[in-house]
Formats: sequence, C-alpha cells, structure tokens
Amino acid sequence: MCGIVAYIGPKDATPFLLEGLARLEYRGYDSAGVAVAGRTGGLKLRKVKGRVADLAAAVPARFKGGTGIGHTRWATHGVPSDANAHPHLDNAERIAVVHNGIIENADELRAKLTADGAVFRSETDTEVLSHLIAAHAAGGVELEDAVRAALGRVVGTYGIAVLDAEQPDRIVVARNGSPIVLGIGEKEMFAASDVSALVRYTRQVVHLEDGELATVRADGFRTFTADARTTHRQPSTVDWEIDSFDTGGYEHYLLKEIHEQPGSVERTLSGRLDERFSTAHLGGLNLDARELREIRRVKILGCGSAYYAGEMGAQLIEELARIPAHSEPASEFRYRNPVIEADTLYVAVSQSGETYDTLAAVQEIKRKGGRVLGVVNTVGSAIARECDGGIYLHAGPEVSVASTKAFTSTVVAFALLALHFGRIHDLSPADGRRIVAALQALPDQIREVLDQSEAIAKLAAEYADSTGMMFIGRVRGYPVAREGAQKLKEISYVHAEAYPASELKHGPLALISPELPTVALVPDDELLDKNLTTLGEIKARSGRVIAVAHRRPEDRLVDHCILVPKSEPELDPLLLNIPLQLLAYHAAVALGRDVDKPRNLAKSVTVE
Ligand code: F6R
Repeated sequence: MCGIVAYIGPKDATPFLLEGLARLEYRGYDSAGVAVAGRTGGLKLRKVKGRVADLAAAVPARFKGGTGIGHTRWATHGVPSDANAHPHLDNAERIAVVHNGIIENADELRAKLTADGAVFRSETDTEVLSHLIAAHAAGGVELEDAVRAALGRVVGTYGIAVLDAEQPDRIVVARNGSPIVLGIGEKEMFAASDVSALVRYTRQVVHLEDGELATVRADGFRTFTADARTTHRQPSTVDWEIDSFDTGGYEHYLLKEIHEQPGSVERTLSGRLDERFSTAHLGGLNLDARELREIRRVKILGCGSAYYAGEMGAQLIEELARIPAHSEPASEFRYRNPVIEADTLYVAVSQSGETYDTLAAVQEIKRKGGRVLGVVNTVGSAIARECDGGIYLHAGPEVSVASTKAFTSTVVAFALLALHFGRIHDLSPADGRRIVAALQALPDQIREVLDQSEAIAKLAAEYADSTGMMFIGRVRGYPVAREGAQKLKEISYVHAEAYPASELKHGPLALISPELPTVALVPDDELLDKNLTTLGEIKARSGRVIAVAHRRPEDRLVDHCILVPKSEPELDPLLLNIPLQLLAYHAAVALGRDVDKPRNLAKSVTVE
C-alpha cells in the first residue's frame, strides 16, 4: 500500500525514481510525487494526482539532483489530490518526507505544530512528519538525530524516507510496520518499500527491521535503533528475475501471471515431493513428526483471496490428515480476543507477507504463546519473519493487484502440508501415492485449461454486461465459488455473489432470473448428483448456467460448459479455479477495466 523509492549517487536521481515508482505503482496509484536535492541547493518537488505516467509528464527536463525520494500513493488520510500527494515539505521547504503507514496521533501533533507556527498544506498525516523533523533539525542537528527525535513523538506505523536540502549527501529511512529495503549499488545506494523497484539496479539488499533506521549515503549505509545503537546487517541476494516485472508480451500482468501458473506450481512443488514414502518434505516447518502428532486443530488466517485459499487448505487438511481445520479472515480474528490453544497450529497466509491485519493476527497469537506457521510468497517479508516456520510459495513476484498464481501456489502448499500431516497420521501409502501423482500432474493440467483462454474470452464477452453473477459450489467447490466471485468483482466491478449450492433454496434462489447468470462448479465427485439437482432448480427459474465441470451435464441443465481435467477429488478445486480467473480477466477486458490496477484497491494492504 503506497510505494517509496529513494536514490543517492553520482547519477541523476529522477530517472530511477520515476522508473522505480512505475514498478511500485501496483501498490497504490491515485497520486505520485518526487523530490530531489538540486545540485545548486534547495529542493525540487513535483507531485500530481493521477498515475506515475502523469507525474513523468509533469517533471521538467531541468528537474535534476543526485539525491531524491519518490512516492506513489493509495489514499488513507485525505482524498487523492496534488496537495495530498507525497513528498510533503516543511514550511521552509528544507525537509521532504515520503511515508507509508498511518500516524495515529497526527491530529494531536498537528495541533501542537500549528500552535508553534507550522502551516499545513495537506490533509495528510504524513505532513506532520515533515514539520516535526524540521523542528528537530533546526540548529545544525544531524538529520538522523532529528528523524530519531521526531519518530520518538510519533504513534503509528511507518516506512519513511527523508531528504534534507541542507544535508543532501544522505537520506534517512526508517521502518516501523511498513517495509523499507536498502539496495546496494556501485558507489550508489537505493531504498524502496519493495525490492521490485530495485532489481534492475542491484540484487544486494538489506531489509530493515521494525524500529530500525538507516542513514544512506552514496558509498554505503549505517543502520541503527531509535536509541542510536548501531545495528549490523548483512546484505542478502534477491533471486527474482527482472523479467518477472515486465508484462512479457502479454497485454496485462494479470494474464501473464495466470499463464505463469504451470511454472509457479512447479516451483512450489520443487524438491518437496518424496515418492519413496509418498509424502512431502517441508524443511521450513521447524516441527518434527512428534510435535506434529500433538496438533489437534489447525486454524488458518489470511485476508481476501488468501483467506479463500486457506479455506481450500482447511478442506485439504481435514480430508488428508483428518485434523479439524478452519480458515478465518485474519482481519476479524485479531479483533475478537481469540482463544489461543497450545495444541492448535496457526497458519498465516499472505502473498505479500505485509498485510497488516494478518501480521497483527500473528503477533497476537505469538503474544499469547501460540505457534504460527507462515504460507508466504515474499521471502524475508514481515509475516515470514514473524512466524515460527513455514512454507515459501516461490511463485515469483505477483504484480497485478488481483492474486492468481500466488493463490494457486498457496493451495498447492496446503496440499503439501496436508500430505505431510496425513502421512504422519493415518493417510495410507497408497493414498499418499495418489496425491503425489496428482500434484505432479497439475502443471500440465493447468496448461490444458489455459489453452481454453480464447473460448472463455468469448463466453466472458457474452456475459460481461450482466447485472451480476452468482457463483455456487458444494463443499470443496464452495471456496472455489468464493474466489471466483472475488476475482470477478474486483477486476470487472460486476457484482458477484458466492453461495454454497446447498444453500440456494434457503434464500438466494429468489434472485435467479435470466439477468443473473450462475457459474456452477460441478466436479465429477460424490456430490455430482446433488449439484445436478441444483442446476435443474436454477433452470426451472429461467436462470442461465455456466458450468465448470469434468463432464458436460445434459443440455437442459446448462447453457455453457467449461471442461477442466480431472485430478484427485481433493485437488480438483485447484483446477476448477483456473477458468474462473480467465472468466474474470476476459470480462474485465470486455468492459474496458483497468485490469492490473482496479479502482479503489492496492496490492498490499499495510494499513488497518
Ligand atoms: C484478491 C487480492 C486480495 C489479497 C488480500 C491479501 O485478488 O489480491 O484479496 O489476497 O489483500 O493479500 P496478501 O496475500 O498479500 O496478504
């Protein structure tokens, strides 16, 4: 949520800042801005409501400086506008600040600063920081000391980068609940809220810890704590490929990421399947077989699509390991004073590893002595570091706001966990073999579904102008329906509702009409007959039906059918979900939506 970039070195900062912001734009995209310390002294500032491309168009050729900071915003305090865009300056235009997060005591600080003569030009909480740092920097104080002193008065979360016109040989950054990563170059240094802004320039990075600050100069950096104790951080190497951050010839990142799924699933599985014992090896769990046997319950926590992937995960764990498992939105869990049990395994799910609600849930569990595993895509992210162990997805960076390949890899990671658990409990070697073989077959089966993209595009165009869509599924199919509805609504803005097929006749059947088509998940499993009966009930009320199935139901029951390859019943949801991603994508394209950056949303939600 919001993106930060910073540069210091011998080159002109502006091209890096603009390119870095474009790469971070998926995190927020309602306004953007840059500030550089000009070579002739003073700060230069440009900020606009709109996209990074609008900012680039507004930056004049003479906008040059060797030290600079930039920001792309997703509004929390104050509407998207030029004035509310970051960076924010103090009244003397000496200090510039970009900020991700929320300053909780901003109103109180604003009142005090105003009483002392500060004149505020925006509605943001961030502007408080520029005035506060400027107040502490007066009288030749080192910038890092001024930032430390200012942050000592702040309550809230932040990732910040600070530029000082009077000390242009450094940038000071700080992290508390919102990520900041340093990039180490050749006689130049970078900083950003996310490595995706840095990978074109360097693979050597340092992730700041919460409560840590850094003074960054062209020839290096020093990290330290709020009480000025120096910390020692070793750089790590980023292994993500640069082309992960390009659309690679696809029209949108989303389509590219949907098509990357055979490869991303292979990476999630890589080195983790054990054919000899028909199980999975998960080195990062940090739990031995004896400890795993003591677990009586699994509670999965995530937000949005991560929560729905957790629902599929819970189903897999119950089916394969026969351990009660349940998924709950982390955003609800953290507010309800949850009972934490010693024999429950908590699993936090997050693509970004930054989602604030999920992080807060993990912290609450740990504070109460619970054990938490992470199922996370982003290596070294806040949630990954907070957990006791876990499974990295290795799905590669996901740039489009809507989650697709990370969703699929999360479910695959849960299948591995369920298999591992199951084989420690009562899952037979034969059943283990069945699941191992089915997992190995997934990448090719996903390719088969993706080959139907064009046919699904035609269907999507035909249905895109519906007033809404109903998604239904039974048991294993219900989380698929929920994720399908989520994908459609977030990128096409078509209203979509998901229901268990079994619940239709208890209320929502009243909605069925030709204007509200139904997407029905109809796997060829023990519930097939029940699902076909539901289709009959919909058709009897003149509803239109798109079935996603292993076998085409009779013509009287469906208007259209998308066929997917059969896996093992426990893994069928993974494949049933892929056509729904394509349906949502093509509906959004047909409606002319901004597919990769849907309105009102941002990729990582690092605020409450
Ligand atoms: C849906 C979507 C969101 C995220 C949710 C959690 O397509 O992208 O619902 O799944 O905000 O994000 P992470 O997984 O980063 O914690």
